[in-house]
Amino acid sequence: MTVHELDEFLAPLRPQYADPRSLILPALKHVQEETGWLPPDAMATVAEATGFSQAYVESIATFYDRLYVEPVGRRVINVCVTLSCMLRGSDEIFEHIADYLGLDGEGTTDDGMFTLHKVQCIGACDRAPCLQVDAGEQIGPLEPADATCLIDDLRDEPAPARYCR
Ligand code: FES
Repeated sequence: MTVHELDEFLAPLRPQYADPRSLILPALKHVQEETGWLPPDAMATVAEATGFSQAYVESIATFYDRLYVEPVGRRVINVCVTLSCMLRGSDEIFEHIADYLGLDGEGTTDDGMFTLHKVQCIGACDRAPCLQVDAGEQIGPLEPADATCLIDDLRDEPAPARYCR
């Protein structure tokens, strides 16, 4: 994505934000939607389009666990490990998914299909334990078998998966 293209995306947002720092997050999200992750040149584009330093943009990108500063797989599975989910078995869900994908903890499968992450609260504590695939809806409450079914579903469908319980 070019600075000009990003500038066009940001143009209608600029009047809505009194503080131009508020443009950085939507800019990063937009670039990530286009490129899948945020390599250094994408950070530089955001920095130039928003008028902030690349270091400042990177400090924001690295703060949010759903902005990816390393390459990710085609589908990203974010398992919430914050208190409500932890108390209801998110560790077991995470380990079950990791085992099923052949991962040793967080990471990306060798075929590049899945990235598995632990994330902080995804705003669905009433459905704990839960996870989120890509930027889709929160899915839960989950049993380990549900997670396995979900992964099979994701593997078969290029579109966002349905919840298969
Ligand atoms: S603690 Fe998991 S969604 Fe809030």
